[in-house]
Amino acid sequence: MPFTIAIDGPAASGKGTLARALADHFRFHHLDTGLLYRAVGALGGDPVAAAENLSPQDLLRPDLRTAEAGQAASRVATDPQVRAALVDFQRRFAVQEPGAVLDGRDIGTVICPDAALKLYVTADDQTRAARRAAELGADPAEMLVQLRERDARDAARATAPLRPAEDAVLLDTTAMRIEDAAAAAIVLVQARLTA
Ligand code: CDP
Ligand code: CDP
Repeated sequence: MPFTIAIDGPAASGKGTLARALADHFRFHHLDTGLLYRAVGALGGDPVAAAENLSPQDLLRPDLRTAEAGQAASRVATDPQVRAALVDFQRRFAVQEPGAVLDGRDIGTVICPDAALKLYVTADDQTRAARRAAELGADPAEMLVQLRERDARDAARATAPLRPAEDAVLLDTTAMRIEDAAAAAIVLVQARLTA
């Protein structure tokens, strides 16, 4: 059976970095599901049609990592029809051998409720804003406002809101270096792989 790892958490908490580290270590497939919503937002027009017709090339746009694309993503992500159109692709991705790591907001709660391991990654919002600002060369104070707005929208929406699955392991990376967070997660995966 393929080993599925679900990683959720708020913006810039370190989900993607952790997902990549786990995928590299265990030679698993990795899907940054935020890119799907970023692409739908960036395509413009009818978001439901965009989600239904999304192609792999749409995920390669260079502008998807911007703060604006993040905001647009969180707006289209409130639409239940947009979300529904993206479910099958994510679920098929999740069951590839030998394993897959998916990071997003609703992986442990909605997309992969039977994942072998669920992680909920957090960090205090000042730390997250500082990290994302450094990454994008943006102002940390402005980034903090944007991240708070996006987190609030993601947590408040009716469909698949941002929240930890009941059986998720919480990982607060506020005071953790990337290598330490990755090492902690690798131990958790290893324990379940050998169980
Ligand atoms: O995927 P998500 O938006 O949750 O966050 P990320 O893109 O993995 O991480 C956001 C930024 O924080 C990146 O620049 C990471 O290198 C950095 N980071 C960090 O400084 N310390 C960590 N423990 C994790 C991530
Ligand atoms: O990397 P960061 O955490 O900043 O954002 P992202 O993971 O690329 O996600 C961008 C936006 O897409 C989020 O703010 C959510 O609104 C939405 N999203 C979602 O609703 N469900 C997912 N599984 C992934 C992202």
